[in-house]
Amino acid sequence: MLHLILIGAPGSGKGTQAANLVSQLGYKHLSTGDLLRSEISKGSELGKRVSGIISEGKLVDDMTVLELLRVNSDLSSGSYIFDGFPRNVEQAVLLEKHILGNNKFKVVYFEVDLEALKSRLVNRRTCPKCGEIYNLVFKKPSREDTCDKCGTSGLTHRKDDKEDVVVDRLNVFKQSTLPLLDYYNGQGVLSVIDASLPTDKVFNSVKNLI
Ligand code: AP5
Repeated sequence: MLHLILIGAPGSGKGTQAANLVSQLGYKHLSTGDLLRSEISKGSELGKRVSGIISEGKLVDDMTVLELLRVNSDLSSGSYIFDGFPRNVEQAVLLEKHILGNNKFKVVYFEVDLEALKSRLVNRRTCPKCGEIYNLVFKKPSREDTCDKCGTSGLTHRKDDKEDVVVDRLNVFKQSTLPLLDYYNGQGVLSVIDASLPTDKVFNSVKNLI
């Protein structure tokens, strides 16, 4: 299996589909957002440095995120999903130079109307233990505030999922990340899927590309 790069606006469903690809097809999942949040919850120096930036919905600097990705990846051990990196053309160049090298990869763009994403994000809840992703509208846990998968109670609401921060994140996506589509289209590695469909249909679209 080729390595996969998932590109999509905040809330387009990258994390949800990455979890399916891991459990059903055996990919390894690297989410730079998850790696950064893990540093924040550990209280590391890096976590302290990036906490405010993430709460405001801005991008962390390229070299910090690249280094975090580099120490957490070993491409010889399996096929990887890169979720949340790259987020601009500079990061795409760094990814190829420092991590992908000559390894082949595909890029999947999760296309969805950006207006629809606010509701997905403000209603997102995540299990603090196993990371399972829920939604109070589209995917409710069967017992209130409790993870169906591991039984942990107290699902979390990300600080950057507040409505005003979501608006800023969507603007950052438009300005910094959308230009990546032309970049990867030019390389002939880009596929586009309709990420507005229900999650099982989105998963089928992704599977059909692999
Ligand atoms: P990150 O954690 O990467 O956030 P993101 O890219 O904004 O993406 P999300 O995790 O919000 O959304 P998703 O597409 O994974 O959606 P999900 O599947 O959860 O980054 C956070 C921050 O870290 C950044 O803002 C930045 O500060 C920093 N950062 C990270 N990477 C960086 C980098 N490379 N450089 C610099 N800074 C970086 O789904 C969302 C909700 O929708 C869920 O509730 C889900 O249940 C629901 N849902 C999913 N699919 C569907 C569907 N088909 N229909 C209905 N509901 C659905």
